[in-house]
Amino acid sequence: MMPAVTGDFDIDRTRSLPPCRLQRTLTAKLNLDENAAPLAELQVSGATFKVKDRAGEKEILKGIDLTIQGGETLAILGPSGAGKTTLLELMTLQLKGGEVAGTVKLNGRELTADMFRDHAFYVEQYDTHWAFLTCREIMEYSAGMFMQEATKAEQAEKVNLMMVNLGLEGCSNTRAGNEFFKGMSGGQKKRLTLGLALLKGAALLFLDEPTSGLDASATSSVMRFLDKMAHEAGMIAVATIHQPSTEVFMSFSSVMFMANGRVAYHGKPQQIQNHCGNIGFPLPEQTNPADHFINLVNSDFAGQEQVDRVVEQCVQTHPKIRYSADDVPQESQKRFCSQLCTLFRRQALISVRDPSVYFGRMASFLIANSLFAVVYWNARELSQEYVIPRFFLLGWLGAVPTLLSAVGVYAFNQQFKLMSKEVKNGLFARRTYLLTTIALEVPYVVLMALSAVVIPLYVVSTGNWAELLSTILVMVSALWCFECLAQMFGILFTNPLTGMLGMLALWIVSFLFSGIFLKPDQIVWFLKDAVYLMPLFYCFRALHHVQFLGTLWDGAELSDVVPGFKCTQPGPCYGRTGEQVLKSLSGMFVSSEQDTVTRDIAVILLMGLLVKLVSISIMVARTRGSKPGASPVQKVLEEATSSEEV
Ligand SMILES: Nc1ncnc2c1ncn2[C@@H]1O[C@H](COP(=O)(O)OP(=O)(O)OP(=O)(O)O)[C@@H](O)[C@H]1O
Ligand SMILES: [Mg+2]
Repeated sequence: MMPAVTGDFDIDRTRSLPPCRLQRTLTAKLNLDENAAPLAELQVSGATFKVKDRAGEKEILKGIDLTIQGGETLAILGPSGAGKTTLLELMTLQLKGGEVAGTVKLNGRELTADMFRDHAFYVEQYDTHWAFLTCREIMEYSAGMFMQEATKAEQAEKVNLMMVNLGLEGCSNTRAGNEFFKGMSGGQKKRLTLGLALLKGAALLFLDEPTSGLDASATSSVMRFLDKMAHEAGMIAVATIHQPSTEVFMSFSSVMFMANGRVAYHGKPQQIQNHCGNIGFPLPEQTNPADHFINLVNSDFAGQEQVDRVVEQCVQTHPKIRYSADDVPQESQKRFCSQLCTLFRRQALISVRDPSVYFGRMASFLIANSLFAVVYWNARELSQEYVIPRFFLLGWLGAVPTLLSAVGVYAFNQQFKLMSKEVKNGLFARRTYLLTTIALEVPYVVLMALSAVVIPLYVVSTGNWAELLSTILVMVSALWCFECLAQMFGILFTNPLTGMLGMLALWIVSFLFSGIFLKPDQIVWFLKDAVYLMPLFYCFRALHHVQFLGTLWDGAELSDVVPGFKCTQPGPCYGRTGEQVLKSLSGMFVSSEQDTVTRDIAVILLMGLLVKLVSISIMVARTRGSKPGASPVQKVLEEATSSEEV
């Protein structure tokens, strides 16, 4: 349960709020006076949602129609399980895992994911923020991306206005926090989310239980601020809400009660008392009207017959205000570069502060691989007895860092969840997200490769700089390939643990087929070619080549007789030159004296690129927003996600 917010705060009613972007665009388009600006209109018709469960088909939304005008706040109420969140998800194009029908129109045009990104914002029930950023930093970066046209001073002014009105000044320097470390309270996070939504100046604002976790006075202040914002900016605000006080309930422009996926009342909150009297369930004195009506339509306790009676007598008393807008605005030309810079700065800051992204792994590589170097200290000596230990040391140096990319799956999963929400809410475009991710991952992969091999190579190296550089290049390519795989698993699964398990399974298979246990011709015939699909096979082969080719080994000397060397001491003997050693090892492992390093690096990079392209398609499908007739890829992903969630 989220902690309640303590302390009161007041709305600064002296400061006026700017009109929302849709209203501004429409005003400009139709050359209208600012005071007589046309209103946005959201129309939902015949909204139905069906799912299949073990008992058969279940209809969760049963043909809901509603119209909301700009400047209104609509509260959706109803007992738990009535379908409030489902309706909100349908309106925000997020609904998945079933059959969706009906239309959602903004000013007469069907709402698309692109229009949603431009004109709407969805505040989900559970608030997640960038854990390592402070409340003010989160606000400032978002202002930098949402308010492209504004100057820095205007952005700062709006951030301050939001912080004051949402009572966030006291926690402005507190980090958001997450399940691992405590930061802002649940109520503060809720208000921060609301602040981000209001910063966008969206025409449509959807909020799922924005007041859960807030105390009575914070609820009342936040809802008054929201109402003021909607009123002054001509915005449509739709919020699901549980147990509002009478004061908050009466402050909504209109309220809609839902029962079992149907509308039980939709109209002005002031008229509900009359409505209850008219349908034979008068409101008892000193009773909260919202509580009374929810009790009437709660089928779990009031009985299905009574609920049906109330629903059948539902009067849609919702007044039609005015509707003059006949167009939706064109997509605004955001300044792509400035958005990219702001996002890059924010993600760079997070990557430095959050150890789960890169620095934690870097420290692990450094410690683990240094330990290997110490354990294999004697393998510095290039003598016959250390051929095999040195061969395996290189395997360890490549194996541990690539294995630990499974940890990255968790970080990428958390990042993707937050960033896809931000993409859907129009904070930045998908391509901005992609470019930022790529621009950050490249230098970090280089740093990770350095932390993985620099100390061990210093310990066991033969002192050749070209060899050091080539080893780093092999590690960079292998780590980048596994980084791409970790990103793919991070965004493919909703549950990060499932993604991590998938990544571990893939790494184990890659290790098994890496050529250091079995050569392809020793593997059962239908799996032998799998070796060539494994990045670890190319990584190990390249590391061995880099470290063995051009070396000279004690305990053997060159000879004119085949195999080109003769042993000068008893015991195992593999050759005088690195090439001869590799050729001898090819009897046991996948190894050859031919230099394949460049080819191996190219193959690893190509594999990484293919995985990256798959990740991009998944990312695009996942951030597109669901609607009837979604693409086949999207449907497959939705089904995978819903079965995973079950
Ligand atoms: N994908 C699904 N598969 C099966 N049942 C579902 C699915 N999605 C929603 N439901 C069911 O639909 C009903 C409505 O769910 P919804 O989350 O919309 O309720 P709610 O009104 O928001 O409730 P609460 O107030 O508790 O948040 C619930 O009974 C829920 O179990
Ligand atoms: Mg809900």
